[in-house]
Amino acid sequence: MTATPLPQAPEGTPLIECRNASVRFGDFTALHDVTLTVPESPGKGNFISILGPSGCGKSTLLNLVAGLLMPSAGQVLYRGQPVTRPGSDRGMIFQQYSSFPHLNVRRNVLFGMEINKHRLGLDRRQRLERAGRLIDHVGLAGHEDKYPHQLSGGQQQRVAIARTLALEPGVLLMDEPFSALDEPTRLEMQELIVQLWDRIHPTILCVTHSITEAVYLGERVWIFSRAPGQVAFDIGDCIPRSPGIAPRVAQEQADFKNAARVVMEAFRRVSDGQIAASPAAAKETR
Ligand SMILES: Nc1ncnc2c1ncn2[C@@H]1O[C@H](COP(=O)(O)OP(=O)(O)O)[C@@H](O)[C@H]1O
Ligand SMILES: [Mg+2]
Repeated sequence: MTATPLPQAPEGTPLIECRNASVRFGDFTALHDVTLTVPESPGKGNFISILGPSGCGKSTLLNLVAGLLMPSAGQVLYRGQPVTRPGSDRGMIFQQYSSFPHLNVRRNVLFGMEINKHRLGLDRRQRLERAGRLIDHVGLAGHEDKYPHQLSGGQQQRVAIARTLALEPGVLLMDEPFSALDEPTRLEMQELIVQLWDRIHPTILCVTHSITEAVYLGERVWIFSRAPGQVAFDIGDCIPRSPGIAPRVAQEQADFKNAARVVMEAFRRVSDGQIAASPAAAKETR
């Protein structure tokens, strides 16, 4: 079996690029003139946490990259090509678990791989192997034959993550993925996703409303200004690495507390409206 070759982007082409992208819903502007770049980082991946006041356009940005929404003005490019529709190379994980209730865990993870088998270039045995490996990575070994209703909320999110990662997406878009989970499960899932990132190196954009979650997960934190949203702060240097450290342990460390303070202060400034949405604001960092 041969994989269908994807058009190769020239070297140096960003993974994701928004060029002066705006989104309007009728008279209301949800995103205004957003320009940003996420570089291609083969073998490493970027992990960007996205924070911002409620309604500032965070989900709108993810929907643009996912191809669920088109910009009213400007451009959104993925690997140099305008995004025109959803694609399995851009995986989305929502707060509410979304899988097939009539399929067991193994079949849920295999399903997308079967649909995309030509792109992935995997035969049946290789697909089964990959499904098994990912089910193991997300801590669901032994649960392969269970159906979603037989799993806890955290386990269901694990299926969604395994299913999405099985397609080897260039970017994983996560929209408040752990908000519906209880606190202990949320911390487990934070640790899991950081481990997976460290092991598989996908690029991840993760919207969250928790400052500690943003600092624990991301290696960069973007903070959006109030609607119409824009990236007002891009904080990277002070964010400590988390792989291999449990969230509760990480949160006690001095560098983590310092990063959380920096992010909190920036968040406070956008929440107070000190950072207005203007092209100048996008340049402000740290
Ligand atoms: N389909 C839509 N029609 C009209 N308004 C919308 C639509 N989707 C989002 N909005 C509005 O756009 C703004 C940004 O929404 P969203 O991106 O969901 O914000 P958040 O940052 O909370 O994720 C909100 O005020 C929301 O009400
Ligand atoms: Mg949202």
